[in-house]
Amino acid sequence: MNETSAQIGTAAILLAAGRGERSGHSRPKQYVELCGEPVLRRTIRAFQASPVIDLIQVVIHPDDAELYDAAVAGLPALPAPVPGSETRQGSVLQALEALQPVSPQTVLIHDAARPFVSGELLERVAAGVGPGQGASPAIAVTDTLRRGVGELLTDTVPREQLFTMQTPQAFPYRDILEAHRKAAQIGQDHLTDDAAVFQLFGQKVSRVAGERGNMKLTRPEDFAYAERMIATTMETRTGQGFDVHAFGSGDAVWLCGVQIPFERNLKGHSDADVGLHALTDAIFGALADGDIGSHFPPSDPQWKGTASDVFLRHAMERLAQRGGRLINLDVTLVCEAPKIGPYRDKMRSRIAEICDVDVGRVAVKATTSERLGFTGRGEGIAAMAAVTVALPAEQ
Ligand code: CTP
Ligand code: MG
Repeated sequence: MNETSAQIGTAAILLAAGRGERSGHSRPKQYVELCGEPVLRRTIRAFQASPVIDLIQVVIHPDDAELYDAAVAGLPALPAPVPGSETRQGSVLQALEALQPVSPQTVLIHDAARPFVSGELLERVAAGVGPGQGASPAIAVTDTLRRGVGELLTDTVPREQLFTMQTPQAFPYRDILEAHRKAAQIGQDHLTDDAAVFQLFGQKVSRVAGERGNMKLTRPEDFAYAERMIATTMETRTGQGFDVHAFGSGDAVWLCGVQIPFERNLKGHSDADVGLHALTDAIFGALADGDIGSHFPPSDPQWKGTASDVFLRHAMERLAQRGGRLINLDVTLVCEAPKIGPYRDKMRSRIAEICDVDVGRVAVKATTSERLGFTGRGEGIAAMAAVTVALPAEQ
């Protein structure tokens, strides 16, 4: 074993350079959102969560750089994506060549269009590789198979010993690189999986149990089905937040991301936007992920005077990193003045913009406390917020 192969045991290649022509979507299918998350991002997360994967190499179409950047924003860092090729097989070869400097021992090759791959399957496939031998998930055919000519059905095909193939397929890196190079040299360049390339030169591929859930998104109806699958694995969580800031001398207050001219300001380390602070805490609450003070300690001078949308955006990123999405949010401001009504819709739009959600999911309400207590005496403003989020149930 040389020094580099000792460093990287198992690499994964995620193929995302196709055009998805059968999917019926205007953008390539790996960038289509399922329940608010791009397919590719979901696939990457599944690999990043696996202890058997040391390195992930994504292959993309050169036209998709912007879509790719948006899809991976906020995820743990990945190596720069490799440009793909005209065919799936060509894209794999590009990625295998790009892995040469690290030269892993084993490589798993996976269609990015299969976002439901499980951690168990990754482990099974990786464990199935041996010297000179690959491994692939496969599922025994259970339906009756029959040939057809035009509209007419003809003879039955015995289904014993027939399997449908899935990815990821795993191989010793050096051997699959050689096989792909040789296949390209002899003009065998339209094979639809890597097991076929490997077997072309007499090398063996063993079968491990595939998973029905590990579907490849291919046709339009697959996307609605996939969203239903995700919905059954999501749970709804709620969070609440509360905050108070005292009035000080000034001529405007920040409330829910909107500056309102007023005879006073709100005192605080940041811009003292009590509404956004309560909302940010509500999101941290739904994630059971500390609070605004633990993420942005008031003792840290870097947050002095910070616009509070920075805090809210951070909470939204934490939500996205967990594969979650915001369902709705509701903020209540408690004060005698300033009047909130005239600014309500502006506040809703601003919050919707920061959180990247539809404004119909954002409520801002206001009430006085009937001149009672500190808000009634005009000493400050209080805010409460509630949110619901959808989060993968496994967490
Ligand atoms: N793929 C690739 N490079 C290609 C073709 C395909 O990286 N030149 C990837 C796809 O992005 C996909 C996987 O290989 O993740 C499986 O291919 P397929 O399901 O056929 O995807 P597309 O080729 O994108 O779809 P279509 O055939 O409908 O155009
Ligand atoms: Mg294709």
